Amino acid sequence: MSKIKGFFITFEGPEGAGKSSQVLKLAEYLTSRGLECVITREPGGTDLAEVIRGVVKSHHTEEKLHNETELLLMEAARAQHVREKILPALAAGKVVICDRFSDSTCAYQGGARNMSMETVDYLNDFASAGRKPDLTILMDLAPEAGFARIVKRQSEGFDRFENEKLEFHRKVRQSFLHLAEREPERFCVIDATLDRETIAQKIRQVIDVALF
Ligand code: TMP
Repeated sequence: MSKIKGFFITFEGPEGAGKSSQVLKLAEYLTSRGLECVITREPGGTDLAEVIRGVVKSHHTEEKLHNETELLLMEAARAQHVREKILPALAAGKVVICDRFSDSTCAYQGGARNMSMETVDYLNDFASAGRKPDLTILMDLAPEAGFARIVKRQSEGFDRFENEKLEFHRKVRQSFLHLAEREPERFCVIDATLDRETIAQKIRQVIDVALF
């Protein structure tokens, strides 16, 4: 029997960490334990927010997408997603599993794009209506290893973020690890180089403690 109703889980990590497949495995597990799950992602998760996802991920050759615009687009997508999908699902007692959330904004726009962390924190809080994840699984991986995986599965080339230099992705990884150090009670850091089944098992152990 579950202890909590309405639980918010986020997955974070650099490119190629294997978050998406673990999101699916976790949802399968929770469903088998009798919980109703909503799988979603950021940027995106609603029709409008998915439009913004397309804008931020695609290349713009005619006009530069400025860092400030990128940050605000991420937050606009989040504001819509949180109010339209996440908060209603949590209020209905469901488990929400989100592939990336505010910590990605801290790592990418704050850490890697070097934007003021104070501004990022303020906007994250504003966009998410102050709702923080109850649990964050950080799938940690060196960018070199992540890119080796992405290259294998890519057919249509890199998106705007994947296209950034290795140094950018190193900063993303360091920022995530720093965030996890700052909030050890919310974060669970998993070595994403382990095989998929071992990772899934580790995640289930953490979830069992949190939810059952
Ligand atoms: P992904 O779903 O393939 O991980 O793509 C989302 C991309 O958007 C990824 O490169 C990380 C980036 N991103 C940010 O830069 N800031 C954010 O707040 C979020 C949610 C994602």
